[in-house]
Amino acid sequence: MVPPLKPRTGGTAGALAVLATLFLAATNFAEAALGAAPGPPQAETDDCLSCHGDQGLAAGKPGPGSRSLFVDGQAFADSVHGRDLRCTDCHPGMAEVPHPPRPHRTEAERRAGSREACKACHFENYRQSFDSVHQRVLARGDVHAPSCVDCHGSHTTVPAAQPRSAISRTCAACHRGISDAYANSVHGRALLETENADVPVCTDCHRGHAIADPRVENWLLRTPELCSGCHADPARMSRYGLSTAVSQTYLADFHGMTASLSRGKGEEAPRITALCIDCHGVHDITKVKDPASPVLKANLVKTCRKCHEGATESFPAAWLSHYEPSWQKAPLVHGVKVFYGLFIPFVIGGLALQILLHLWRVVVNR
Ligand code: HEC
Ligand code: HEC
Ligand code: HEC
Ligand code: HEC
Ligand code: HEC
Ligand code: HEC
Ligand code: HEC
Ligand code: HEC
Ligand code: HEC
Repeated sequence: MVPPLKPRTGGTAGALAVLATLFLAATNFAEAALGAAPGPPQAETDDCLSCHGDQGLAAGKPGPGSRSLFVDGQAFADSVHGRDLRCTDCHPGMAEVPHPPRPHRTEAERRAGSREACKACHFENYRQSFDSVHQRVLARGDVHAPSCVDCHGSHTTVPAAQPRSAISRTCAACHRGISDAYANSVHGRALLETENADVPVCTDCHRGHAIADPRVENWLLRTPELCSGCHADPARMSRYGLSTAVSQTYLADFHGMTASLSRGKGEEAPRITALCIDCHGVHDITKVKDPASPVLKANLVKTCRKCHEGATESFPAAWLSHYEPSWQKAPLVHGVKVFYGLFIPFVIGGLALQILLHLWRVVVNR
């Protein structure tokens, strides 16, 4: 398939010809690697569609149990696969009519098995899908958990992340409650109303294929890093006038320190400290000035009381929140800090000077 490289004729034209040949070889190789058979797929497609283009074609006896076998040829042609794939790339053996029997027995098996059609070309996604929480649901025979086609479609597949909001909408199809909360959150609003690329979609926190169980403590203890990935990024946060000190001040605080120390202490260890999400919420995060914000001054004690039973109204006031101590905020703490900032170098410097003077005396007076 790869034409032999001609001897160099010299000059740019020759170099271009070599490059073009290499490029062709590379594309051929990529196609072969993807498993797409060579040759125009149209003849085969037309053949399949001569039966499957019939809207009335269905599996099973007519009635509620029957399933349509109609395939919309135009929609398939418009899909990401329409240009290069043959029907039999995903349905091997089906060129034979009447079709040979297939292995699956139940509907759940058929759905779970449908991902085998994608394995040859998207192996990484295929592999990851076995590490997903959804796999557990599929494994127990529950047909409500998504396989590839529930999120991507089978014959109408479009680029998965265009526009970006399409990602969150994909999950919304089954996770209604959470998606509604998210749609009203500071993150979700920015995404769904303005396609803002700076805010997180579902898969930024959960991923799309190897979704971790969000109830496992070790995963939860890593969520501050997840938030900090954006909230400690000056370029991203400056566009919204938000402080990037939230991450570092959290880690310097008792809650953050305990969270760092507790990591890796076993999957089921009970939650022993406050994470970002305990104060701000998860899918329903609001602006901190929003009247409904759990961290608004008026609501803050209630938030602390989730864990600090019997906290008084003044309890949160005694805490520095995300502030670095300053003359305005916690002047006493700041004062002590400044004092030590001067005092410690003074003491250490003095000590060093004393040692040097001693050495000097020893050298000079010997
Ligand atoms: C002569 C008509 C005809 C042609 C041509 C035809 N099919 Fe079919 N196909 C059927 C009928 C009828 C069924 C239902 C019976 C069965 O499952 O074997 C079916 C079933 C199927 C199914 C199984 C659907 C399911 O989920 O149960 C697939 C997949 C399929 N065809 C793909 C193809 C492909 C790909 C081609 C082209 C290579 C093709 N068919 C050509 C008539 C046809
Ligand atoms: C990218 C892979 C892929 C290609 C290409 C593809 N199919 Fe499918 N097809 C699937 C998957 C996966 C399913 C199972 C869908 C499900 O379970 O909902 C399916 C289901 C079907 C069915 C059963 C009815 C249905 O829609 O569930 C028929 C019939 C069928 N395909 C025919 C075709 C024909 C004809 C072509 C070519 C025009 C084709 N397929 C191209 C992946 C593909
Ligand atoms: C729960 C929904 C869901 C399931 C199930 C799912 N995907 Fe995805 N997939 C997504 C989302 C959302 C994206 C967009 C990128 C992202 O945010 O991960 C994506 C991206 C992709 C991409 C393009 C980007 C990339 O990662 O390479 C491919 C290819 C893909 N998926 C294939 C598959 C295959 C094959 C399966 C089955 C083994 C599968 N997906 C199962 C939701 C899903
Ligand atoms: C024969 C190889 C082949 C098979 C089988 C195949 N795909 Fe693809 N898929 C491709 C190629 C090639 C592209 C890139 C098309 C492009 O970029 O124009 C693609 C693109 C995609 C994309 C878009 C990626 C993006 O950039 O967002 C998704 C999603 C996807 N495939 C899902 C699937 C799913 C789900 C299946 C199984 C039902 C499947 N594919 C089966 C070859 C294949
Ligand atoms: C086709 C439906 C469907 C789609 C689409 C879907 N999920 Fe799920 N998901 C489920 C089902 C069913 C469960 C299991 C719920 C249960 O056990 O109560 C689940 C469980 C989960 C869990 C584990 C939490 C739990 O309650 O066990 C997470 C996290 C999750 N999904 C995230 C996502 C994300 C992120 C997306 C989009 C990329 C997505 N899901 C798309 C059906 C879906
Ligand atoms: C900013 C990060 C983030 C985003 C964005 C996000 N989640 Fe979550 N999600 C989490 C965290 C953290 C948890 C664990 C919450 C807990 O234990 O209270 C969680 C828990 C879940 C759960 C299981 C717990 C439950 O309440 O049932 C599901 C399902 C889920 N998310 C789906 C989604 C979907 C769907 C989206 C998009 C609409 C989404 N998430 C967006 C961080 C996020
Ligand atoms: C113990 C509760 C608590 C924890 C834990 C917590 N926060 Fe906060 N957060 C607050 C309070 C209270 C405010 C409001 C401070 C103010 O403006 O007076 C706030 C404000 C914010 C703001 C707004 C900053 C601004 O410039 O207005 C962001 C963003 C934020 N937090 C993110 C985080 C992140 C990320 C984490 C984890 C790394 C976290 N928070 C952990 C209580 C908490
Ligand atoms: C993908 C980046 C990203 C991730 C991850 C992320 N955020 Fe945000 N967050 C933003 C952006 C951007 C805004 C500003 C949106 C706007 O104002 O339109 C924001 C706004 C906020 C606000 C509102 C601040 C205010 O008062 O205006 C809070 C609180 C917040 N995020 C907390 C969190 C927490 C807690 C997490 C982790 C569970 C988190 N965020 C994860 C990007 C992110
Ligand atoms: C999810 C539970 C949780 C929430 C919500 C929470 N805390 Fe804590 N907090 C803890 C735990 C557990 C400790 C002890 C371990 C440690 O230092 O992290 C602690 C320790 C503290 C301490 C150190 C002194 C002490 O009492 O041990 C202060 C002060 C404190 N929290 C203030 C607050 C304030 C103010 C709020 C509300 C804005 C708050 N906490 C919200 C769980 C929580």
